[in-house]
Amino acid sequence: MSRKPIISGNWKMNLNHWEAIQTVQKLHYSLPKEVYRDVDVSVHPPFTDIRSVQTVIESDELELQLGAQHCHWEEKGAFTGEISPLFLAKLDVKLVVCGHSERRDLFGETDEMVNKKVKAIFKHGMTPIMCCGESLEEREAGETEAKVLGQVVAGLDKVKADQVASMVIAYEPIWAIGTGKTATSEDAQAVCKAIRGAVAAKYDAETAAEVRIQYGGSVKASTAEDLMAQPDIDGALVGGASLDPEEFSRIVQFAA
Ligand code: G3H
Repeated sequence: MSRKPIISGNWKMNLNHWEAIQTVQKLHYSLPKEVYRDVDVSVHPPFTDIRSVQTVIESDELELQLGAQHCHWEEKGAFTGEISPLFLAKLDVKLVVCGHSERRDLFGETDEMVNKKVKAIFKHGMTPIMCCGESLEEREAGETEAKVLGQVVAGLDKVKADQVASMVIAYEPIWAIGTGKTATSEDAQAVCKAIRGAVAAKYDAETAAEVRIQYGGSVKASTAEDLMAQPDIDGALVGGASLDPEEFSRIVQFAA
């Protein structure tokens, strides 16, 4: 089973809509066109940039995929400040991150909410990138697998096998996010392999062989090559380094 790698740039709360346009154009010029044959590439700008980025992608016919950083599970209603998955789909958003540790820790997102989001993202024809990861305390207490696999199983509750096969799971150890500390390739591989094993146990071997698993946490061009060489790592969810189009382009090329 050969899985197409996917490199996703999560811009977090960075880059206004003018900067977003420039960044996407620079990224386009720094990526060889042929790279899209071998790698899916997505950018996840802040909501205020999405329309601008969509316009650039459409008018310049870019193969870059538009992503969002989160969404609500309801389509519409009295949810002040929330973002509808239906509206994202209408803006040609293809992938939506859910369950990022910053959403879980800073905004109280629970496994149950993540599960509702996964289902809502599928309902509107988009692909979830469902994040999971352990804190430093949990790692040091030997609880990494219990925490990560618990999040994965809960997030996939009543999600169908064919949907799981088409989605992306991002393993992001919290202690490696924005800290400059990357998990070793071996440690990242071990957890990604365990995630694939949990998918096989919950569904079947075919589903596990198809689901794509990203690693995230201080990924840079200097660490990407080793990470991408691991058998159960199918790409990266990149934060800080995705704000620099040339660095991000180098990371993408290591996945090709
Ligand atoms: O979504 C991306 C991850 O949180 C990683 O962020 O590359 O800045 O550590 P980072």
